[in-house]
Amino acid sequence: MAEYDYDVLIIGAGPGGYVAAIRAAQLGLKVACAESRETLGGTCLNVGCIPSKAMLHASEYFDAAANGAMADMGIDVTPKLNLPKMHEQRIDAVEGLTKGIEFLFKKNKVDWKKGHAKFVDAHTVEVAGEKVTAKEVVIATGSSVTPLPGVEVDNTKGVVVDSTGALELPKVPKHMVVIGGGVIGLELGSVWRRLGAKVTCIEFLDQILPGMDDDVRKESLKIFKKQGIEFKLGTKVTGCTVKGKKATLAMEPAAGGDSETLEADCVLVAIGRRPNVDGLGLDNIGLELNKRGQIEIDHEFRTAVDGVRAVGDCVPGPMLAHKAEDEGIAVAEWIAGQTGIVNHDVIPGVVYTMPEIAGVGLTEAEAVEKAGGDKKAIKTSKFPMMANSRAKTNHEPDGFVKVIADAETDRVLGVWAIASVAGTMIAEAALGLEFGATSEDIAYTCHAHPTHSEALKEAAMGVQGKPIHV
Ligand code: FAD
Ligand code: NAI
Repeated sequence: MAEYDYDVLIIGAGPGGYVAAIRAAQLGLKVACAESRETLGGTCLNVGCIPSKAMLHASEYFDAAANGAMADMGIDVTPKLNLPKMHEQRIDAVEGLTKGIEFLFKKNKVDWKKGHAKFVDAHTVEVAGEKVTAKEVVIATGSSVTPLPGVEVDNTKGVVVDSTGALELPKVPKHMVVIGGGVIGLELGSVWRRLGAKVTCIEFLDQILPGMDDDVRKESLKIFKKQGIEFKLGTKVTGCTVKGKKATLAMEPAAGGDSETLEADCVLVAIGRRPNVDGLGLDNIGLELNKRGQIEIDHEFRTAVDGVRAVGDCVPGPMLAHKAEDEGIAVAEWIAGQTGIVNHDVIPGVVYTMPEIAGVGLTEAEAVEKAGGDKKAIKTSKFPMMANSRAKTNHEPDGFVKVIADAETDRVLGVWAIASVAGTMIAEAALGLEFGATSEDIAYTCHAHPTHSEALKEAAMGVQGKPIHV
């Protein structure tokens, strides 16, 4: 009889866990995956990436019809919102994809252990009363919303909600207040702004989108303001009272000062996410968390406890689905005796607003800091989308592409883009960074015309000397 029930047990079936499970099975291992949700796919497929993109995509069509963008192209329509139908197509998208993972589990002979998993010891996990043993256990439990003291989320009432509640609102709020000018606040704030809500975004810092390049942060703020989102930067929320269907928020300048109040019929709390580790029984295996509540790992995704590894949102690094997926593949490869590599310096990030906002590699400030504060050690160039023939023709003039390169070696250190299809364009930049491209390599690569991607080529030409079209 085998020593363990399984070669690998994965806890959590999000992009980190389900991908690890499938890859491990492909590599010939006997695999089980524990998931407490009714459906597979984790945050990403159920209440994250996929449903938010379904609402962003649909609301973008509505906005284009409502704000005159379609009329500008000779299409006269007066849109009428059918919100239940819009939600239906969101639910359909989620259902199709989560069922798809179920199919892939069956196809690859991954056993789904339904229920909440808790460590008994490093090789034994209890799921719904069953003790499952495995030679290696991978923690891929993901993350959930960081609570804001004094602002209690209740998705069932729909007045103070988190991202899950904000995806499902049964009617368009008159005034939505978004707490947090990060990715969720701007994506979901955009959805409801497009569908007719007045949206106010309250951000603690004096700029939105922390972690992105400063030029991108400034320019996107201008664009969101132009679209009608109002911002209160450098402001902290100190409390929230709810009476019936109305919320009153108390806030004050982050640096201290007079407080003021703001009324809303919907408040979205989006101030970040934190790892899911409660009830996992980490005490039973003696695994401690770092100061940020994350599980520390080495480059083979091993935790401090022998036989236990971890990937995805519950470990340090950006909380992104594609980062979790790549770690899922790599951890399975290590477990199978191969070498699994994730280049954490080249993980693209995309905000799926219109225009999209994307970046990969270093920001200008990070590149200068890495060069010991020497601004001359790097070269940068920005090419405006206004001067890109395809963007101009498509009535999408907002944004730019910015290339940051090492002044001595010309190696590209970072690429940032605001463009209608920046999320797609950034893949080319990521490939360039992965292959160690110079700005000259990109500038002399033939790009199809007319495409938005030519803006990346021209920004690279700008680092070289001069682009053609500005
Ligand atoms: P998760 O997807 O969180 O999955 C973890 C799973 O583990 C969950 O299903 C949970 O139920 C299960 N679990 C937890 N504890 C246990 C336990 N003890 N026993 C059994 N099961 C357990 N990222 C992008 O890259 N692009 C996007 O467009 C994007 N959009 C997003 C939009 C929203 C609104 C949100 C909230 C997030 C978005 N993200 C996006 C982030 C993305 O969803 C996460 O980075 C990704 O899901 C992390 O994957 P994971 O596998 O680490 O964890
Ligand atoms: P975030 O970290 O992107 O932004 C949170 C924002 O809230 C920050 O700007 C922060 O300064 C601000 N903030 C923090 N405390 C505050 C307070 N008390 N008052 C006002 N503002 C405050 O977090 P968000 O938007 O909640 O997203 C969570 C995670 O989900 C992100 O890490 C992101 O990676 C992931 N995600 C990714 C998406 C994508 O890739 N397109 C889409 C949605 C989420």
